[in-house]
Order: sequence, then C-alpha cells, then structure tokens
Amino acid sequence: MFRFKTVSSILFSVAAILVFFVFILHILAPSYQSPNNIVTHSSKRLNRIHFPRLGWVKDKTTSVFIPAESSRQMTEPLINCRENLVTIEQYRSRSVVRGVIVRFPSLKSDYYFVQFRWFYRSWIESEMFTLDRWRTDIIIIIDDKFPNTIRKLLEHLDCHIENQRVSRRQISRCILINHKLFSQQSKTQQQFYIDKYSIFNRVNELDDNIDRLFSIYDYINQLNKTQTNFYDFLMITTMNTFLTTQFGKYIPIKCSFLLGTAPDYSTFYGKSNQISQFIHILLYTLKESNGTQRNLSIDFSSTIEKLKTKFLFLEGQVDISCDSKKTTYRTSIYHLKCYAHSTSLFSERMFREKAYDGYEKEPFNIYIAREYATLMALQSKVMSLDDLHILAVNVTRREVYT
Ligand SMILES: *[C@@H]1O[C@H](CO)[C@@H](O)[C@H](O)[C@H]1NC(C)=O
Ligand SMILES: *[C@@H]1O[C@H](CO)[C@@H](O)[C@H](O)[C@H]1NC(C)=O
Ligand SMILES: *[C@@H]1O[C@H](CO)[C@@H](O)[C@H](O)[C@H]1NC(C)=O
Ligand SMILES: *[C@@H]1O[C@H](CO)[C@@H](O)[C@H](O)[C@H]1NC(C)=O
Repeated sequence: MFRFKTVSSILFSVAAILVFFVFILHILAPSYQSPNNIVTHSSKRLNRIHFPRLGWVKDKTTSVFIPAESSRQMTEPLINCRENLVTIEQYRSRSVVRGVIVRFPSLKSDYYFVQFRWFYRSWIESEMFTLDRWRTDIIIIIDDKFPNTIRKLLEHLDCHIENQRVSRRQISRCILINHKLFSQQSKTQQQFYIDKYSIFNRVNELDDNIDRLFSIYDYINQLNKTQTNFYDFLMITTMNTFLTTQFGKYIPIKCSFLLGTAPDYSTFYGKSNQISQFIHILLYTLKESNGTQRNLSIDFSSTIEKLKTKFLFLEGQVDISCDSKKTTYRTSIYHLKCYAHSTSLFSERMFREKAYDGYEKEPFNIYIAREYATLMALQSKVMSLDDLHILAVNVTRREVYT
C-alpha cells in the first residue's frame, strides 16, 4: 500500500513537472505567423525577455540552426495605435480586401512582361494559401502610350479595365488602370495637384519614380472620390517580385507598415489610409536635388521620420532577395524581389539567358525563397497564357459566403 502510494506520488510529481515544462515552453515558443504579436504583444507580457522571434533557417553547411535575420524595426513599438487589440487570427475570420499595385512601364514592355508573368504566377500561388474571406487584386497602372500588343496579352490573363471591383465579395481579380502621366493631364487636373504640391509647378515632366507615386496617389484619390475604395490594405511594388505563400495569410497588423529595401523603397505595404498618407508626405516633401537644376528627388527618410509616431515601420519582410536561402515557412517573409546584379539562383539575368530551362520538373521546395522564385518563374514561362489564366480561375474561385 505504502509502496503504491510512493509510486503514484512520484508519477504525479513527474506529471506535474512535465505540465509545468510544457507551459514554460508554450510561453517561450515564438507563436506561429504573427510576428507582430511577438514584437509588441508578447514582449509586453514578458517584460522585455528576449527570445528568438521569426523563423529559423537550417544552415546546410554546419547543420546548426541559426536564426533567420530578424526583421529590422525602425521605430519604437510605443506608437499610438488604435488597432492594437485586433490579432491576425481575428482578421483571418473577417473579410479582408487587398490590392497589390504595380506600374507597368510603356517602354520596354516586352521585357517587363516576362516579370509580370512570374509575378502573376506567384499571385496565384499566394491565393492557394489564402483565407476564404480574403481577396487580393492585382492592380496594374498603365499610361496612354502603353502598347496594344502587351495589353492584349494582359487581357488574355483576364486583366481588364472593366474588372474594377464593385463589391467586397467579388473574387480576387486583375485590374488594369489607365492613368495619364502628370504631363498628359489636363490643366485643371494639373492645377489641383500644383495647389497641393507647389513643387510640381517647377517641373515640366516628373521623373519616372515620382510619376509612379503620383499616379498611385491619384488612383487612390479617385477611388475615394467615387466611394469605391474597397481596399483595406495596399501593397505598392514593382514586377520583378514574387508574392510568397505567407503573403496569402498575412496582413500588417497593429499599425505596422512594411518597407522594402532602402534607399529606394520600391515596395511598401500597409493599410490603405497609411499608404495614402505615406505617399502624400512623399510628394509633399519632394526635394530639389540640385539647386540649379530642376530635378526632384524623393525623400524617404524625412517621410519616415514624420510618420514614426503613427506607423510601426518594419523592414526585412518584403523585398527579400530572390536568391536568398531563407525559408518562407512560418516566417515573416511575404514578398521577394530580384536584384539585377545577382548571378546566383534565382537570378533574373540567368533566367533570361535560359540557364534554367528544362529544370521546371525539379522538386523545388516552395518554402525556400530562391527555389520558390525559380519554380514560379519557370512555370510562368512554360505555361501558356491560357493555362495560367485557367489556373488563376480555379484558384481564385471561392464558395459564396454570407
Ligand atoms: C482616401 O480616404 C482615406 C480615408 O478617408 C484618407 O485617409 C486618405 O487620405 C484618402 N486618400 C486620398 C488620396 O485622398
Ligand atoms: C548637382 O549636380 C551636379 C552635376 O550634375 C552633381 O555633381 C552634384 O552631385 C549634384 N548635387 C546634388 C546634391 O545632387
Ligand atoms: C536632372 O534631370 C535630367 C533630365 O531628367 C538628367 O539628365 C540629369 O542627370 C539630372 N541631374 C541630376 C543632378 O540628377
Ligand atoms: C481547373 O478545375 C477543373 C475542374 O475542377 C479541373 O478539371 C482542371 O484540371 C483545373 N485546371 C487547372 C489548370 O488546375
């Protein structure tokens, strides 16, 4: 009897220790897919205990786990954010409408169409991993000089001007927006912006990068005017990029605003009103880069400085290099970008030189950034536009919800 009691009490103690251990592990383990919870929420709870956040990458050479380069936080987490309490899990059961805006240049459009195909293919992939009530539109801004041949190809992928969203429920879609360059706009339209941004008055033609920002801002303004701004979140980016599978399941929460790579920050991702404010300040703080010459330059650093009490600026989550060996599995990597100089997998240059031809049947791992990029690019090349379109139709189809 006595013995039985001892044994059972030992067993009980062991069980208690195990439960305690599991509890401690539960607290310390980085929570899945919600990096911002970890940055702000948990650190509050644990009072500045530092623990590994974001993903871990297996380093093949040493077979030791090393932490993935954590995203760089550019501002204090002590920003005033009204939405601090809404978690990513809550968003996942809600309706969310996102737009990914790219500007498709009229010059060298054949060249850019190659990028567009893989970008479109990656959008389909991210749609495979997204949530029932989430929608993500690709919004392509073109101008009056856009070549008809490329436009026909885009229409083949069901990217149309008529596709503009008219309700939140419509399935994810690809939308063409015809936007006039600043120099091609009517005098009254120009005056509207000159009154707002007096520096516009001093240039005849805006620099390409500034015109891109201007057209995006003007587009958001028009959505506002016609009360058709259904977009909760917007990503502004270029086409030499890939949306990852994680992008399908993630939106920036708690006032976070994701920035791509300095100094040109060609990608940024946040709530629509944040995007609007950000571009407004970018246009407002345009600088004359040279006293004598009439050149304007974009001043990201003072814009970031001005907004740092309202936005939680985060780097290292979008514009991850497409030759990176980082994992995108349960990490906060939402978007990859190809840099022109790279020659290691995935290299845009080598892809164009056909160096990867015939490798599309390789067992690429979609959770490794560089392999994912390679697979998406190769598939976008070997698939016909019809097949790409059919795949998009299949994947974006959703059950009707109430
Ligand atoms: C559009 O509307 C939002 C919300 O009312 C506002 O924050 C934003 O500044 C507006 N954007 C433009 C470009 O007018
Ligand atoms: C102004 O222009 C000159 C000549 O083009 C250039 O050398 C100089 O770096 C420019 N200054 C700035 C501040 O951009
Ligand atoms: C100013 O703009 C002109 C024309 O766009 C360009 O050729 C020149 O290099 C620019 N100068 C500077 C200093 O950026
Ligand atoms: C699209 O869906 C149909 C019917 O579900 C299926 O037969 C077809 O193979 C799918 N096509 C692609 C490209 O996935």
